[in-house]
Amino acid sequence: MTQRTLSIIKPDAVQRNLQGAILKMIQDSGMKIVAMKMLQLSKDEARGFYAVHQDKPFFDSLTDYMSSGPIVVSILEGENCIEKYRDIMGATNPQNAQEGTIRKAYALDIEKNSVHGSDAPDTAEAEMAYFFSRMEMVG
Ligand code: CMP
Repeated sequence: MTQRTLSIIKPDAVQRNLQGAILKMIQDSGMKIVAMKMLQLSKDEARGFYAVHQDKPFFDSLTDYMSSGPIVVSILEGENCIEKYRDIMGATNPQNAQEGTIRKAYALDIEKNSVHGSDAPDTAEAEMAYFFSRMEMVG
């Protein structure tokens, strides 16, 4: 089944100039980029994006971090790409991430973990709509 998912290259990775390396790992896996932009979230925009985590103890720190610098957001398309991208990212905590994954290679810790990917079809739809209009999605 062809799916779409939202990818974010987070501030820790953009700050270290890892956009190209991470996008290469994504593209080498065969997924297609059908939308992309670079932006910096405000604290309120980061709160809105991560609203599902608002009761978590790490919410304030997470939203400070996610609004601390530029991010690269993109929409990926491919066969089962929601699960596929999560496999390529690796575990949320890089200490548990497998060799060959983005987080194993680049994540700094459980919060500054370099990338985000949607976890299910309904969240993918909501997350893509958070950043992109239909006109910005090609293909
Ligand atoms: P992400 O996949 O974007 O989804 C929620 C984010 O919250 C996660 O990646 C991490 O950046 C962060 N996160 C998850 N668990 C923790 C934690 N225990 N402590 C700090 N940050 C966390």
